[in-house]
Amino acid sequence: MPALPTSVDPADPDFAARAAHTRGLVQRLRADLAAAKDERNPKAVARHREQGKLLATERLERLLDPETPFLEVGALAAHGQYDGGVHKAGTFAGIGVIGGRECVISANDATVKGGTIYPLGVKKALRLQTIAAENRLPLVQLVDSGGAFLPLQSEVFPDVDDGGRIFYNQAHLSRMGIPQITAVMGLCTAGAAYIPAMSDEVVHVRGTGAVFLAGPPLVRAATGEEVSAEALGGVGVHAQRTGVTDHVADDDDHAVQLVRELVGALPGPRPGWIDHVPAQPPVYDPGELEGLAPRDMADVLPIREVIARIVDGSELLEFKRDYGPTLVCGTARIHGYRVGLIANDGVLFSECAQKAAHFVQLCEKRRTPLVFLQNVPGFMVGRTFEEGGITKHGHQMVNAVATATVPKLTVIVGGSFGAGNYAMCGRAYGPRFLWMWPNARIGVMGAAQAAGVLISVANGQRERSGAPPLDAAEEAFVRTPVLEAQEREGSAWYSTSQLWDDGIIEPARTRDVLGLCLGVCSRAPDPGFHSTFGTFRL
Ligand code: COA
Repeated sequence: MPALPTSVDPADPDFAARAAHTRGLVQRLRADLAAAKDERNPKAVARHREQGKLLATERLERLLDPETPFLEVGALAAHGQYDGGVHKAGTFAGIGVIGGRECVISANDATVKGGTIYPLGVKKALRLQTIAAENRLPLVQLVDSGGAFLPLQSEVFPDVDDGGRIFYNQAHLSRMGIPQITAVMGLCTAGAAYIPAMSDEVVHVRGTGAVFLAGPPLVRAATGEEVSAEALGGVGVHAQRTGVTDHVADDDDHAVQLVRELVGALPGPRPGWIDHVPAQPPVYDPGELEGLAPRDMADVLPIREVIARIVDGSELLEFKRDYGPTLVCGTARIHGYRVGLIANDGVLFSECAQKAAHFVQLCEKRRTPLVFLQNVPGFMVGRTFEEGGITKHGHQMVNAVATATVPKLTVIVGGSFGAGNYAMCGRAYGPRFLWMWPNARIGVMGAAQAAGVLISVANGQRERSGAPPLDAAEEAFVRTPVLEAQEREGSAWYSTSQLWDDGIIEPARTRDVLGLCLGVCSRAPDPGFHSTFGTFRL
């Protein structure tokens, strides 16, 4: 198959301007990631070390096989939220390799407010459990946490997707046969006590690890009893009397080694099921994606140029190329894995939606994972298109994407707006992983359109009550806060801080991140094919 053609010219001023813009964002991303990893209150770090504990980063380094990739999830979770210092929502987490076995790993950072759990910390824990469940990966947790962050207790405790759900899910992960190994590496207080309690196997560090439903401060407040953490829930209590502890470690280093041995004793990884051949690099440099990334929605992003810098050999077997041409569908390989690509090249029309629904059915039946590259302003609006049935045709695509059982991966490379987000496998449509480029924008609609809608609604109300339309100053009063909110809340940084995605990635790394995700999906069992109908041509 010939490589996709290209008309990219790195000497073109528009290319250079986009590349400079993207590089600025990438530098900001790297700086924010470094701060989220290392910027800590020195007093909290000193207190942590005084207790003889390793930092969360050091625990992780020793846990993971050297020179293996760590696919971090939620690296900038809670970025800029709360007081700005709850880095990573309090937990280092991702998919890493332990003794050759991929695992979902989380490690509380006790130097961030005693490792207490904020609302976004709960959300992150639930997301990690979803990744473990969907990809049948063992879950390894290094716990060191004061339980709920009490000032926000109403937001972390009672609702269906609050803290209680973490332990509910642990029971169900166990039912599914997903191994859960937990190391007690500090205090595991209240809710955090349930994490080891609900796990399959528990390692417990002598001296610093303790498990209890109420720690010494709460016992003191509730009953006046003075008791040390060690006497209340240390190794002596749980290894000898309660049986919560299965393996005793002398220190953090020993605990990490024990976890490695326990993971090593699990059944080995399964062979992959996704069609795979030796990988070939793209013909064109993935680094050139920096010069393609749009600076805003006014910049056109020729999506085949993006695909040509992500897929093996820059080869794409395109499906219905001339029908619904603003959506590109086709089969390609990424790091050797066969995938069905669905990628926006403009607004979604009825024909695009029908083409996508047809293509998803083919991929579903052929057990080909789907990769969505989102740059979607939404579905086309207006009388002609409503009469042409765009709602019904959009439904066909949304329905197919929602119910496809093959692994789905999504990368938002530009805009992600309106129902286009749904049809292109936004977070609510169950992609196994969802990543964002740093320039990406997300929202119900663009800011200008949202402000326009609100001004139009206000003018409608005024007309009904006989008042004149808003004047320019009044319009600005409506428009400005909408534009400001959208500027902030529509950015990739806000999205990632809220865990609407799994992380912001550098455009040049897109292919490698997708390759790692496909490897994970391939080694999980195929969820299976459930359709009772043949393929409908649409
Ligand atoms: N909610 C909110 N903040 C908490 C907290 C909680 N449950 N537990 C600790 N913190 C905060 C402290 O106020 C302190 O904040 P600061 O850095 O702004 O001063 C920070 O976390 C570290 O606490 P500190 O006690 O200084 O550190 P430590 O390493 O000696 O002990 C804990 C950490 C978590 C073991 C200890 O603070 C503790 O036992 N907390 C109470 C836990 C509890 O009873 N939780 C019940 C949850 S339902």
